[in-house]
Amino acid sequence: MTAYSKGLEGVVAAETKMSFIDGEKGVLEYVGIPIGDLAKNSTFEETVFLLWNGRLPKAAELAAFTAEIRKHYELPAGMEQRLLALPRDAKPMHMIRTMVSALSMHDQNPDANDAPSLRERAISILGRVPTLLAYFHRYRSGMPLVRPDTSLSIAENFLYMLNAARPTATMAKAMDVCLVLHADHGLNNSTFSARSVISTQSDMYSAITAAIGSLKGPLHGGANEGVMVMLNEIPSVEAAEKYVLDKLSRKDKIMGFGHRIYKSYDPRATHLKVLAKQLASDTGNMALYEKSTAIEKTMETAVAAKGIYPNVDFYSATTYHCIGLPLDLFTPVFVIARVGGWAGHVIEQMGDNRLYRPDVLYKGPHNAPYVPMAQR
Ligand code: ACO
Repeated sequence: MTAYSKGLEGVVAAETKMSFIDGEKGVLEYVGIPIGDLAKNSTFEETVFLLWNGRLPKAAELAAFTAEIRKHYELPAGMEQRLLALPRDAKPMHMIRTMVSALSMHDQNPDANDAPSLRERAISILGRVPTLLAYFHRYRSGMPLVRPDTSLSIAENFLYMLNAARPTATMAKAMDVCLVLHADHGLNNSTFSARSVISTQSDMYSAITAAIGSLKGPLHGGANEGVMVMLNEIPSVEAAEKYVLDKLSRKDKIMGFGHRIYKSYDPRATHLKVLAKQLASDTGNMALYEKSTAIEKTMETAVAAKGIYPNVDFYSATTYHCIGLPLDLFTPVFVIARVGGWAGHVIEQMGDNRLYRPDVLYKGPHNAPYVPMAQR
């Protein structure tokens, strides 16, 4: 047996051609292209094509891929009634985990695991997750549903269905950049969950459902909501330093900081910080942005020596708030983006599959007596 590594730190468990991370230098590339170049020049749809195909699309290929996704903006018959029967106070991450799982029952062939079938299922989930989120938000708020508009991109259409109004070009671009930045990230916990599930030859829906369950945790994607809760708890910019130092002295974690792989600045946070500042200025939320930078400054003095810097979730909280997203949709929006990564990893795993089955170090007793019930 190889050495035990708690939390699987340092264990290489898969091969990928999708994303590369250098945690010391703060580098992230999708298929070799620096994340900053994609954030500036690409779109979410093009980025997903890149991740799934290992190359950028030609114009006609991107048009065909985009059209294919848009065909799936509408929910399958029966899904809307299912959604409208959910408790209105259900948490959106529980809702989306459940409804992605439910989509499998509206598929004639949910277990098809050949590459073209996996792609078809991936595209349909990618198209439908934003609709499920927007419909659920409007339903729980007592507002009429807004049907998807297939002339719009995933980012634009999501904001349109959520708010019943087309987003401004700035907001649509900001949303799209967030989706690009969150699309894939090596063998993070939720991606590992997806690959582990499909390695049993289960199905795309089960793999994505498991990944959503993983992403929800506050140590993973759930941290972006934790950041917003923290920002709301801090009454002013001046109060940020004491708040952070008090938490650190109690050995509490500061949400949105630290990463298993990055021991320097997360390059996604670099871009989100710029975006957050611009949107905060546009929307009159500079106090929120300044609270964030005050937290970052305190963390830099207190713990940067340990390699703890802002991660992707820190400035995405301010960004999402400025885009106008409700707090409990922050992590679900991460789902929209990461379906691109998860599905790509599922396809990659099935291209060269071997069942994931790690070992465990047994620490219990041996040859213990079976004590009859009356004598215990
Ligand atoms: N605030 C304060 N201290 C921290 C933080 C933090 N956010 N993160 C790590 N540390 C400290 C730990 O207390 C520990 O200190 P010690 O050695 O003195 O005991 C040391 O850094 C190592 O921390 P671990 O939790 O062991 O590191 P690990 O690699 O297991 O955890 C994790 C990484 C879970 C992301 C961690 O940094 C954390 O909990 N961060 C806050 C939650 C968060 O933002 N998660 C989102 C990550 S990005 C994503 O998943 C999309």
